[in-house]
Amino acid sequence: MLIDTHAHLDSDAFDVDRAEVIARAMAAGVQRMIAVATTATSAEQCIALAAANDGVFASVGIHPNYPAQLHDAEWARIVDLCRSPKVVALGETGLDRHWNDTPFPVQQAFFERHLQLSRETGLPVIIHTRECDADALDMLRAARKLGPLNGVMHSFSGQAATAAECVELGLHVSFAGMVTYKKNTELREIARSIPADRILVETDCPYLAPEPKRGKRNEPANVVHTAQCIADVRGISLEQLCELTTANARRLFRLP
Ligand code: NI
Repeated sequence: MLIDTHAHLDSDAFDVDRAEVIARAMAAGVQRMIAVATTATSAEQCIALAAANDGVFASVGIHPNYPAQLHDAEWARIVDLCRSPKVVALGETGLDRHWNDTPFPVQQAFFERHLQLSRETGLPVIIHTRECDADALDMLRAARKLGPLNGVMHSFSGQAATAAECVELGLHVSFAGMVTYKKNTELREIARSIPADRILVETDCPYLAPEPKRGKRNEPANVVHTAQCIADVRGISLEQLCELTTANARRLFRLP
């Protein structure tokens, strides 16, 4: 069994065949999926998908690249929604300097709100960072001083030192399809180095399809390719990798 800890199942890329996508995941042994929100409306859709599908769970939050959503009224909806049934995480939140969509101080303020809500609710936080390792670490170090950090650096693509410090701060590190791409030797080296009790796998679908599906629409069933790649670099069997990442995901997100 595998758990896809990060799937944008509400994406319109799945409008034509969402039920089949979920069924294919189940058939492939991906028996739990976390539908990860990007806005308050997306969070409502993720909660509805979780209500309708046994193996689907939801996260609620606002992605830093959705500037129109980053205001008080949207945040109030997230705070309401986080108590809904089958909500297992907050996010995705974080910082992104790659896309210049949102003023950076606004991204920081909303990342801070998610971290604070995580302390208040005990829900783990799903963290997106792109081209801003130092900024993210600054905020995470500050947050760690206020209480234990509970969450995951999702679709990790940063520096080895960043991954190591995130682990030290108490976070998990999750890998998506990028780890399978031929040129990403350094990322595979990082995946090898993460302690066995902190590593997770995900698809981040519909984006980032792993080899050999690269370039196509991604879906939760494909998480097995990422798992196989990481099992290979760690020198363990696919079964062992599935066992440890599933145990980690269950513990972090309190999944059945
Ligand atoms: Ni995502």
